[in-house]
Amino acid sequence: MFYICYLMNFVEFAHVVFREMGSEEIEEIMDLEDEIFGRSVFIELSMLPVHKKVLVADVGEIAGFAIVYWDESGFYLGALGVKEEYRGKGIGRELVKRCVEFAKKKGYNTVWLEVNVDNEKAIEIYKNIGFRIEETIKHFYGIGKHAYRMVYVDK
Ligand SMILES: CC(C)(COP(=O)(O)OP(=O)(O)OC[C@H]1O[C@@H](n2cnc3c(N)ncnc32)[C@H](O)[C@@H]1OP(=O)(O)O)[C@@H](O)C(=O)NCCC(=O)NCCS
Repeated sequence: MFYICYLMNFVEFAHVVFREMGSEEIEEIMDLEDEIFGRSVFIELSMLPVHKKVLVADVGEIAGFAIVYWDESGFYLGALGVKEEYRGKGIGRELVKRCVEFAKKKGYNTVWLEVNVDNEKAIEIYKNIGFRIEETIKHFYGIGKHAYRMVYVDK
C-alpha cells in the first residue's frame, strides 16, 4: 500500500512544472492568497521598494506558489501556499528548495522567513531544508500570535 501511494505521488509530481509566474497570472495568485491567507503578500510587497518574484507549481492550474523578495538588507521568503487538494505531495517543499536556489543565483547565501509558531508542517519543511529558528517574535501576526524568524545559511 505504501509503495502504491508513493508511486501515485511520484506520478502526479512528474506532471508539476515549477516556473516563474507569468504577468497574466497575478489575479490567479491573488485569488489563491485570499483563499489560503485572507490577505495578499504580493500587494503588500508592491508598495515596498524591493525586488520580488513569484514561483509557481503548475499542474495545468496553479497548485502552489512562493513569493520571494530581496533588497540590500537581504533575501526573504515572503509567502508559501499550496492549494488544499494538492498538499502532501512534496510541492511545498520543492517550492522552498527552488526559492533557496534562486537566492543563491542572485548572490545571497542567507534566506530569511517568518512563520507562525503553531504551523508545524511548514516549520518541518523549512527545518528539513536547512532553516533554523533564529528568534521568536511575539505578537507578530496580532495579539497572542507569535512567529519564529527562521534563517537558512548556505555553507
Ligand atoms: C505549508 C504548505 C505550503 C505545505 O505544502 P505541501 O505541498 O503540502 O507540503 P509538502 O507536501 O512539500 O510537505 C511535506 C513535508 O511536510 C511535513 N509535514 C507534513 N505534514 C505534517 C504535519 N502534520 N506535521 C508536521 N510536519 C508535516 C513533513 O516534513 C513532510 O515531509 P515528508 O514528505 O518527508 O513527510 C501547505 O500546507 C499550505 O499551503 N499551508 C497553508 C499556508 C501555510 O501554512 N504556508 C506556510 C507559511 S507562510
